[in-house]
Amino acid sequence: MNGAAVVENSTQSWWKEAVVYQIYPRSFNDSNGDGIGDIPGITEKVEYLDDLGVDVVWLCPVYDSPNHDNGYDIRDYRAIMDEFGTMADWEELLDELHARDMRLIMDLVVNHTSSEHEWFQRSRRREGKYEEYYYWRDGSPNEPPNNWESIFGGPAWSYDDEREQWYLHLFDENQPDLNWRNPDVREDVKEMITWWLEKGIDGFRMDAINFISKPEGLPDGDPDARLVGHEHYAHGPHIHEYLQAVYDDTLANYDTMTVGEMGGTSIDKIAEYLGEGNSGLDMMFQFNHLAVDDGPNGPWSLDGWGEWELTDFKEIVTRAQDELAAEFWEALFLGNHDVPRIVSRFGDDEEYHEESAALIATFLLTLRGTPYIYQGEEIGMTNAEFDTLDELDDVMTIGKVEELIDAGAIDSFEEVRGLVNYLSRDHARTPMQWSDDPHAGFTDGEPWFGVNDNYRDINVDAALADENSIWRHYQSLISLRHELDTLVYGEYELLLPDHEQLFAYTRTLGDEEVLVVLNWSDEPATFDAADIDPSRAEILRSNYEQSPENPREREFRPYEAVLYRL
Ligand code: GLC
Ligand code: CA
Repeated sequence: MNGAAVVENSTQSWWKEAVVYQIYPRSFNDSNGDGIGDIPGITEKVEYLDDLGVDVVWLCPVYDSPNHDNGYDIRDYRAIMDEFGTMADWEELLDELHARDMRLIMDLVVNHTSSEHEWFQRSRRREGKYEEYYYWRDGSPNEPPNNWESIFGGPAWSYDDEREQWYLHLFDENQPDLNWRNPDVREDVKEMITWWLEKGIDGFRMDAINFISKPEGLPDGDPDARLVGHEHYAHGPHIHEYLQAVYDDTLANYDTMTVGEMGGTSIDKIAEYLGEGNSGLDMMFQFNHLAVDDGPNGPWSLDGWGEWELTDFKEIVTRAQDELAAEFWEALFLGNHDVPRIVSRFGDDEEYHEESAALIATFLLTLRGTPYIYQGEEIGMTNAEFDTLDELDDVMTIGKVEELIDAGAIDSFEEVRGLVNYLSRDHARTPMQWSDDPHAGFTDGEPWFGVNDNYRDINVDAALADENSIWRHYQSLISLRHELDTLVYGEYELLLPDHEQLFAYTRTLGDEEVLVVLNWSDEPATFDAADIDPSRAEILRSNYEQSPENPREREFRPYEAVLYRL
């Protein structure tokens, strides 16, 4: 990108200009026929990623793990999971990416480890400095030390028969929380971070990072809260201090990008973490826009889920653009490995599959911030269909369903089948669809998790053969973003906030102005923004043939998405 002028308060940096591609290794590409995606499988596809035009790969955990939560339960931070290959394979992947000027960021999971991690094993035996590496508490085996609930369902405490004490786990019982109050824990984590930075990686995505500081005494939470204990363990008392120290002692010495995951956090609160001298986090995954279709009690509401209004969505997105992206920076995403497929959730995965997937691509790639593409989005992969609990793999979905059954809220899976098919994390984890070969070309063996039936139509080979495919749309928008500083640094302004079908905005940098008109509906819509002079509008990109040359001259068709230079 040439060094054109930038918006006053925004300094240029490579990670602002980058487009990130997220890989969930288990489901990406299997190179040896054991049915499990692996690192050599990713290396085989580096060329593919280069063709798409992405700049950074975010690799979900590839560390040694017993896989209770598909790698988010780490047994050894410095070893590669056997199923995924060897450290030499990983080094080759890094070299292949770097050889094409692509960067690699790794997942940093340090709120918890696996219960099979050596630290936990030694801690449960009260060995030396490891004794207080986790949160251990006394108590009768029938009465957890406080009322906190696990994010994956059930109590946040399990009793360990060996040490005869309770230990805390905000996630699964196999994911005990590290005791960050202990300075030795913090030092060990920093050493591990430096070890990876020395191997040449380009940054981290920091898992559940807002949970690492717990208050002294671990007080009971409000029993009526949606997640009991959350007010205590989210953004705990020392969080900024811990993050700042991690940054100063590790990342500050390298040229990296960092993105923190902060679930359940308001935009105001997110802003406290960003900016110079704050926490060393460049941007954040915040989920306010993804709450737009929650039911009244959050994502796991039994009723009222799946409904959303475009006007609400625009308001939330605009708030984040104004208060995060304009002031600091934003991570732009709709999908990842924890949420449903974006075209099924925010588009129309049947009648307007191609159009709506391309519209969503236009949205993600034309806002201010760093866009993240989750594997398969570039070909419009959709949600799968799960008929029984047995067909699911995800520890969270299964835990939540069991919690509802135990609480007597439902009698059987049948009662939440609709909800599970709407929001399960498993939708994002079906194997990548490469071709119309058996198992979508993902493996020559039996895939670890079922391939979506629609792979015969939706696959990479078909997308590459079609000049108008969703894939081509992503590719061409990524390359446009690389050409136009305005799409990266330009100021964002929302038009027509009350329009129920159109999401329209401008991006302006210096004297260049780009107009984005998205008809986010299955009915025609009229663009009538009075303050836009469309007379010299030039179409830069569109997902339809013959889009209106002048955006005011005629209606936009269902899911029509057009980018103009004004
Ligand atoms: C994050 C990850 C998710 C994982 C959880 C526990 O939310 O994205 O996949 O289950 O943390 O590590
Ligand atoms: Ca394999």
